[in-house]
Amino acid sequence: MSELAPGDQAREFAAAFRSLLDWAHATAPREDNEVSALVCGFLGPDGTRHSVVTRELPPFEHVNLQTAVDAWSAGAGRAVAVHGIAMPPHYGGLTLQQLVAGEVPPRLRLTAPVLTDLPNGPGSSLGCLRLAVLLVTDADGRYVVMISSPAEHQQDLLVEVAGLPVDQAQRVLAELDRLRADLNVYRGHLLDVSLNLMGGVSLSFADPPGVSRDDVVLPATVLARIERHALGVAGHREVLLAAGQHLKRGLLLYGPPGTGKTHTTRYLLGQMTGYTRLVLTGRSLVAVGAVTDLARVLLPAVVVLEDVDLVAEERTLGAASSPVLFDLLDAMDGAAPDADLLFLLTTNRADLLEPALAARPGRVDVAVEIALPDAPARRLLLMLYGRDVPLALTGEDVDLAVERTDGTTASFLKELIRRSVLESLHDDPALTVVTGAHLARALDDLLDAAQAVTRTLLGVGVDPADLPVGGALQPGPAPGARMAYRRAMIRRAMHYGG
Ligand SMILES: Nc1ncnc2c1ncn2[C@@H]1O[C@H](COP(=O)(O)OP(=O)(O)OP(=O)(O)O)[C@@H](O)[C@H]1O
Ligand SMILES: [Mg+2]
Repeated sequence: MSELAPGDQAREFAAAFRSLLDWAHATAPREDNEVSALVCGFLGPDGTRHSVVTRELPPFEHVNLQTAVDAWSAGAGRAVAVHGIAMPPHYGGLTLQQLVAGEVPPRLRLTAPVLTDLPNGPGSSLGCLRLAVLLVTDADGRYVVMISSPAEHQQDLLVEVAGLPVDQAQRVLAELDRLRADLNVYRGHLLDVSLNLMGGVSLSFADPPGVSRDDVVLPATVLARIERHALGVAGHREVLLAAGQHLKRGLLLYGPPGTGKTHTTRYLLGQMTGYTRLVLTGRSLVAVGAVTDLARVLLPAVVVLEDVDLVAEERTLGAASSPVLFDLLDAMDGAAPDADLLFLLTTNRADLLEPALAARPGRVDVAVEIALPDAPARRLLLMLYGRDVPLALTGEDVDLAVERTDGTTASFLKELIRRSVLESLHDDPALTVVTGAHLARALDDLLDAAQAVTRTLLGVGVDPADLPVGGALQPGPAPGARMAYRRAMIRRAMHYGG
């Protein structure tokens, strides 16, 4: 044996070790993993030659995909065997291509299908495959469909097809797309849109709002105008289209906080029972593009964009333009004019929105101001929120309360009744009667508190000493620079918890 220098020995050992690894890799059976073996065995050598075709879907489509797969699996002449897959912890995603190629982590195992239970209607749910392969036999031959739901390293839901020529695989995916749209579980429902931790859209079925027309105190002409624009189309779709009129419409409700923009919206949503109703508010407004795409599949539909000024303000704080606000306007523009699609926007800062809306006309056809309630409206609001309360008010009590609440909001009057009840409970825990004295005490307290908070927060408010006798609440001056913060605080102060 020839002598080698230590460096040469190491090199020789490294080279030998590398060739050992290469040999092991080359000669290892492709299907040494049971999942991979199942897939490759089912497809046969011919099937594994084809490209894997993948469709990426947003996570909220998971329940629709499962619904579609269930219907599709039951199709005539089709046999489908479902196998679950267990992954080693923290493994970074698995694709069907890996299974076909035998490139899989060693601890991948076959299991009973693992299901995620997802809502598929208000009060019902469907077990949805989390990670599974479906071995399919039908008129196209033998092929494999894999479903993998979003996980640690994968934002989207994936459906993959292996074992078919590309055009046939595409047809399978298109058929699943069609079934997802046809059987869509969100169609016709009221849905809250939110963003999950990864920034993806999630949808949840919401309860019917339960606000009747009698619960909405607005001038008759105002409410009628809102109703005509939002609800009036439903009964006349065909006639309108035949007359060349568009159905897509935008309605903006604007006015001070606590006057009933959200309340009116909830009333409308309750009326639009045949519509798919998607409600975006706060952070979820950024999802307007994806949500509008969904709405277009689920017509007739309403997309509610609550407090759109929050997005408009992003522009004033950030760079020269707000991508979110323009996304929003673009999304409104993108839908076809003949779609029965209502965009319902609310804001208490129409002035912030105006430049953007003016620059891109045609998005909002009707803007309706929801103003502070006038004296007759305040009278009605007292009655509305006092209807289940043992009120014993004289005409004079009511007149005085109506007068003193000049400049307040509907939500203020609602709170006034609640406080009057508390005043009465203070005197008599049995709540036998709420009198004018209780009402007056509650009003003293509220006007005082509201005025103090308003003054402190705005830093420019009116001193209570300057108020006219009777303490009519003056709307504060329009807030200036630190507006967003102030607005939030004022809103809280005026709302009293809504
Ligand atoms: N016009 C109204 N008729 C009857 N009740 C109302 C009316 N306006 C407000 N309310 C009551 O006050 C609550 C708060 O009002 P709402 O949330 O609709 O105000 P808003 O105009 O949307 O305010 P914001 O601009 O802060 O969003 C409602 O839930 C409702 O109980
Ligand atoms: Mg609101």
